[in-house]
Amino acid sequence: MQELIFATNNQHKLREVRAMLDGIATVLSLGDAGLHGEIPETADTLQGNAEQKAQWVWQRTHKACFADDTGLEVEALGGAPGVYSARYAGEHCSFDDNINKLLAALDGHDNRRADFRTVVCLIEADGSQRFFEGRVDGVILRERLGTDGFGYDPVFMPDRFAVSFAEMPADVKNAISHRGMAVKKLAEYLRP
Ligand code: IMP
Repeated sequence: MQELIFATNNQHKLREVRAMLDGIATVLSLGDAGLHGEIPETADTLQGNAEQKAQWVWQRTHKACFADDTGLEVEALGGAPGVYSARYAGEHCSFDDNINKLLAALDGHDNRRADFRTVVCLIEADGSQRFFEGRVDGVILRERLGTDGFGYDPVFMPDRFAVSFAEMPADVKNAISHRGMAVKKLAEYLRP
């Protein structure tokens, strides 16, 4: 089976993505591939960051690899926090800090529409690049619901569901999520 290096050491993401690429590719983390160090993420778009992270791996290995970048885009906040979702409340903030800042920013807003968008950049062994995008629309809740998942999961309720991402079993979230959709497109492209 083909090997793919995923530009992450986030065990949560690895588990999600390995399940989706099961039977299609063996997914190695940065650590599995012997790569260490902080990957720069300095672009101002999701596509730019995904490309930057995948290029960092490819430049060091010349092996097939991919990277993802995700943002939560809130309509009433003009698309913020977007590409800055991880650091919304500051450089070393927690998921809880980010949620607190988001709920405060939306205080008094009736428009709670938001989406999660993920861009995956695949670089094949020959250096050719391809992008895959996934998106899920929903609303930002007024308070946290559920304890599963990570990030903004407790305050995001996808359309056509009455529960937050943090209240869903992982397989249900994967089937409809931004990253799930982007990785599904990657899997379809890679499937022999
Ligand atoms: P990353 O680009 O995948 O690292 O995502 C950036 C930030 O978006 C993360 O630090 C989380 O705060 C948030 N995020 C990404 N994916 C999810 C998700 O599936 N649920 C909730 N928050 C997420």
